[in-house]
Parts: sequence; C-alpha cells; structure tokens
Amino acid sequence: MQTGLRGRDLISLQEWTKEEIDSVLEVAAQLKRERALGIPHPLLRDRVLAMLFFFSSTRTRASFEAGMAQLGGHAQFIESRTTQIAHGDTAKEIGEILGRYNDGIAIRNVDWGVGNRYIRDVAAASRVPVLNMQCDLFHPHQSLADLLTIFEKKGDPRGRTIAISWAYAASYQKPISVPVDLSLLATRYGMNVRLVHPPEFRLPGEIVDQAAENARRSGGSFELRDDFDAGMAGADVVYAKSWGALLTAKDETEGAEIARKYTDWIADERRIGLAAADAIYMHPLPADRGIEVADAVIDGPHSVVYDEAENRLHAQKAVMALTMR
Ligand code: CP
Repeated sequence: MQTGLRGRDLISLQEWTKEEIDSVLEVAAQLKRERALGIPHPLLRDRVLAMLFFFSSTRTRASFEAGMAQLGGHAQFIESRTTQIAHGDTAKEIGEILGRYNDGIAIRNVDWGVGNRYIRDVAAASRVPVLNMQCDLFHPHQSLADLLTIFEKKGDPRGRTIAISWAYAASYQKPISVPVDLSLLATRYGMNVRLVHPPEFRLPGEIVDQAAENARRSGGSFELRDDFDAGMAGADVVYAKSWGALLTAKDETEGAEIARKYTDWIADERRIGLAAADAIYMHPLPADRGIEVADAVIDGPHSVVYDEAENRLHAQKAVMALTMR
C-alpha cells in the first residue's frame, strides 16, 4: 500500500507506479464496501474540488460531485463557456487562482491537440492536485473504474484476454482517450490485449509502443488486429466502442465519411457469441444503441456497464481521498 499520494496530480496513469494504482483499487474497494454498509467516511470534510468542464458529461460530473459530498466536502461545477476563459483567463491563471480557492482541480478538456497540454499547464501553476476528468489522450478515472470492474468480475486479470475494439457510431467523433488509456493500463496488469480497429482508426505510435513495452514487462501481450470477428474470438473481456479517425482525417466531415465505410462494426449478439462463454461486455457510455452496440448486448447477460459506471464513483473517491487530504 502506497501512502505518499497526497498532493499528486493524476493526469495519466502511466505516470503512476503499479503499486500506487494498486493502492487506489484497494481504497476504492474499501470505500465501496463502507458505502454499501452505510458507514460514513468524511475523509475530505471542508475540502472543495473545482470541476472545470470544457465538454459535456453525465457520469463524470455526477460521480465526482456525489463522491466529494460523500467524502464530506463539496464540488463546484464550472463550465468553461460561463467563465472568462474565452475572454483571456489563461491556464496559468486558472491554476493559480482555482488552486487558492480549492483543495483540488479536476478538468475535462477533450479538444484534440489541446486538452492534455491545457491540463498540464494548469497543473504547473496549481498548488493543489490536478485530476484529469478526460483529455484528448487519457481518461484515467474511467480506466481505474474499468480495471476495478475487471478485478471484480474476473479476479486477477493476468493472462486474461481483452479485446479493445473500435465500433461504428454516428453521433460524434469520440475521443481516443478510452482505448489509449485502457491499452496502457491493461498491459501493465499482465493482460493479453488485442487492439482491434480499421486501419484509419489507429492510435498514436508512441502509445502503441508504450503498450507493447508494458506488456513485455508484465508478461502479458499486446497485438494489433483489423478484423473485428477475429479480435473477439475467445476474449474474456469485450470492450467495443467508437472513436474518431483523429490521426487520419483532416476534419470532422472527413472523419465521419471514413467511419461510414465501417457501419457493420457493431457489437451484436453474433460477435459476442465469438467471445468466451462467460465474457463480459464493457462500455464507458454513452453508447450509440443499435449502431455501436445492439440492445441485446448492452442489456444482455454479458453486459456489466452499470457496475462499470458505478465504479467511477468508488475509484474517484479513492483518488480524491488519497491525493487531496
Ligand atoms: N464515461 C464517461 O466519461 O461518461 P460522461 O462523458 O458522461 O462523463
């Protein structure tokens, strides 16, 4: 158990040691148990978290806000468009000023080529921990919840096969942060990771290289595939979701055009049938129902999406309790 996380930023889990991540999972399980038993845990009494959103959210906002209340503190919701950011507040000023009002700053900024840099610039100026609520590259609190869910459903994930697959969606070009983060994390826990996508939906080369290196060190494996069906074969965990052709397309219109070549990439019953008989289906939500995933899958016996969404709360409370005390 690592106890020295007070004051730490969480921008990418790759910057935390495995022992530190294990500590988060341990505390998350404890807080989850205590909540189920009705045992209060006001570990952050009188502490305040600023939550700065540049993009919409259901789960992230609701779970951070509920989590701070359950820890005895408060979370203030700040939407970038109702701030003076558009009129000149810089990342440095946000870090300096919100860091003086609050005990932590959480930020969601998924703008491609911007979000991660912005969060790091705020962190450089902040005297309190900065937590990444999703940027263009990483979604660490989602990945922590995902890993907690895999441990709960499958036990030690070492040697288990996870298929992290692209799927078609029509709603918008979703960030690449979920497949990036999960590829990096699952390979650190000894999983056999298959990253499955059509060629235009590749992830950054340095991420792919890092995932391969993580797998080499952990005794797991990491492979790239471009065949959805082959990627599903025998998988213990099916994590099929959409992301944008952000490294390939010059704009949203071209990205949508490329994606329309692959409308048959849907997580349906036939494909889930190719995975292990006791496979779990995961998705961070929101999903494009009937397009990205069939109702029969997301509402079916393999789906763990609601337990996965619940674990956002417990994982984030653990991070906040460990970093903001
Ligand atoms: N999974 C996730 O981050 O959900 P929201 O976009 O609703 O916060």
